[in-house]
Parts: sequence; structure tokens; C-alpha cells
Amino acid sequence: MTDLFRASIDGLVPYEPGKPVEAVQRELGLDHVVKLASNEGPFPPFPAALEAMQRAVLELNRYPDGGAWALRTELAERHGIAFEELIVGAGADGIIDLLAQATLDPGDEVVCGWPSFPSYVLTAAKLGAEARRVPLREHTHDLDGLLAAIGPRTKLVYVCHPNNPTGTANGRAELLAFLDRLPEHVLCVLDQAYFEYIDDPDYVDGLDLFREGRRIAVLRTFSKIYGLAGLRVGWGVAPADVATATSKVRRAFDVAATAQAAALASLDDPQEIARRRELNATGRGRLAEILRGHGLEPAGPSLGNFLFADVGGGRELFERLQREGVIVRPLDGFGAPEAIRVTVGTPEENEAFGVALGHVLSGVS
Ligand SMILES: Cc1ncc(COP(=O)(O)O)c(C=O)c1O
Repeated sequence: MTDLFRASIDGLVPYEPGKPVEAVQRELGLDHVVKLASNEGPFPPFPAALEAMQRAVLELNRYPDGGAWALRTELAERHGIAFEELIVGAGADGIIDLLAQATLDPGDEVVCGWPSFPSYVLTAAKLGAEARRVPLREHTHDLDGLLAAIGPRTKLVYVCHPNNPTGTANGRAELLAFLDRLPEHVLCVLDQAYFEYIDDPDYVDGLDLFREGRRIAVLRTFSKIYGLAGLRVGWGVAPADVATATSKVRRAFDVAATAQAAALASLDDPQEIARRRELNATGRGRLAEILRGHGLEPAGPSLGNFLFADVGGGRELFERLQREGVIVRPLDGFGAPEAIRVTVGTPEENEAFGVALGHVLSGVS
């Protein structure tokens, strides 16, 4: 039966989801487990989103609004983008998949930094395309390196902004100079999954660049600060021809009705967004302090809701922390086996990380 499968998936390994918290708790006989592993927000959905979902549940006998017409219309209007340029997908991840499907033939190439978000590489590999991975420089995208890696078959260049897992972003002048030099046959995908967490005057809002007429795609998500990771809904903008191409490859009903309703209802709470942004910045500072207290310098400055730290052996520390009831992300799959990534949690969760790290590093565990 070996002929059954496409050659391009031979080298891929199935996604290994982290064990559910309950399973870790049971297996290790722990009373309480804290998960700081997936860059989710520690906050629940907004009250308005919960209400909207409850209403939407009553109509789940119907298929969702295919193509997410209402959500696209609303986002387009609010951001001054044409409806035809707005993409809604099953998470920003779903949109990365659509962009790859719409653009990549076997033998084509994408370019991205590394370590970075693995979906850029995996969605290309699945299609028989190749990802040219350009090592980060001081934990930040080497934009000249990305340009140098572009060849005649490059279709997409991903700039993960800020970069998952290192949290860093390139400044305005550097990013603009990079976009100015990008060859016309390549589409830049500026992934701004953590946009709402950022309060840095030198951080570029990709939608501004898009509205200025730059030919880029910009990605955003409801998974992070909006607290809707479990629903799978994200959005992005792209030139109309690109957005139309993604509509050709999308499944008709790829974003659930509850997800669309919750996303729409989440758009009117800027105060709560600001509160969460501040809490995140405080928590991120506290996690950095904890790491430094143990001689571990986090990469930075990190703009997102997570920190990257070189700990010598990421998987070993991950396993030892897990035995203490704290789950972080080992980064072998991201191309950084030496490191861990820790997501900012609630103040209590951040302190639990500190206690667990203290136990592990002092050999008390
Ligand atoms: C950089 C980046 N892009 C995209 C995603 C995917 O987000 P979503 O939940 O919207 O699929 C993530 C999630 O961690 C991410 O870190």
C-alpha cells in the first residue's frame, strides 16, 4: 500500500498535541496543573461573545454563513479595507493553509525565519514545496537573509511579527526597507497573530502598510487576546486576487457558526483589550524576572504573550517542570531544541512557574 500516499508527506510526522491537563494530572498524581504551553490567553471569551454563542447554539441545525459574509463585512468596514480583500478562516493557521494551497505547486518555495511558526514549513511541505529557513539573528528575523534566500520559484515569504517563539519584531524602518526590496513575484505574509498585545511605537501595523497600497497579506486572530482559541477563527487581508484565490481552495463551511458569532460580538470592547494588554505586560515582566532570577536570560524584547529562553536542553526542562505541575513548550519542533517557551498566565500561574522552576533548578524535585 506504500503507493497510496503522496511522496511529499513521507517525511512528515503527525502533529503531537500536548497531553490534556487532566491526563498529565492523573498520570503524575498532581493536584493541580498549570498550562503555559500554547500561547493562549489566560482570559475567557468576552461576555458579549458568550452571549452570542449561546444564541448561535440554538441554530446549529443550520450550516454557517459560508464565506463568513457578516464577519468579513464588519471587519472590512471597521478597518477601511475592501470586502474583496478580507479573508476569514479557521484561525490564522487556517489562512496560512489556504495561502499555501492557493499558491504552491510541487517544487515551489517559501522563505521564512527559523526558529519560527512551524505551519509555514508544514503547509509548504504537504504540497511538495520547499521551505527555505533562514536562521534568526539575535533571536530576530534576518530580513537581508530572507531576501537573499528568495529564488525564482519563491512564492511566499513569511515574516512572523512578532516572531513565535522568540517574541521579537523588526522595527519600522527595517521592515519598510525589506518590503521595498521584495521582488514582485513574491507575496509577503506578515503574521500579526499577537497584534493586540503590542504597545510599542516602533511596531508596524500591517493594515497601515496594506492601506498604503503595499502588496502584502496580513494575518490576525481571535485566538489570543480575545480568548477564543478553542473556536478556531482568524482573519486577514490580502490583495483581492490573493483573497479570491483563497476562496477557491477553502471548504464551503470552514468556520463554525458559533465561531463567527463570537468573533463578531468581540469587536466592541476596547477597554477590556487594553486591560488584558496591560495585565499581559505585567505578567511578561514577572516571568522575565523569574527567569533572570535563575540565570536564564529571555530573548527580547518580547512583544507577545510569551518568552523564549535558552535553557540548554528544552525537552529535559519541560519534562522536569511537568512533574512539578507546570507545562511549558519545548521547542524542538520549532527548530530550537535548546530552548523553552513560556506563555504568560494569570498572576497565580506565573508564580506557580516560578516555584516549579525553583524546585527543578535547585534539585529539590
Ligand atoms: C505566529 C502565529 N501565527 C498563527 C498562529 C495560529 O493562530 P490561530 O489560533 O489563529 O490559528 C499562531 C498560534 O500560536 C501563531 O503563534
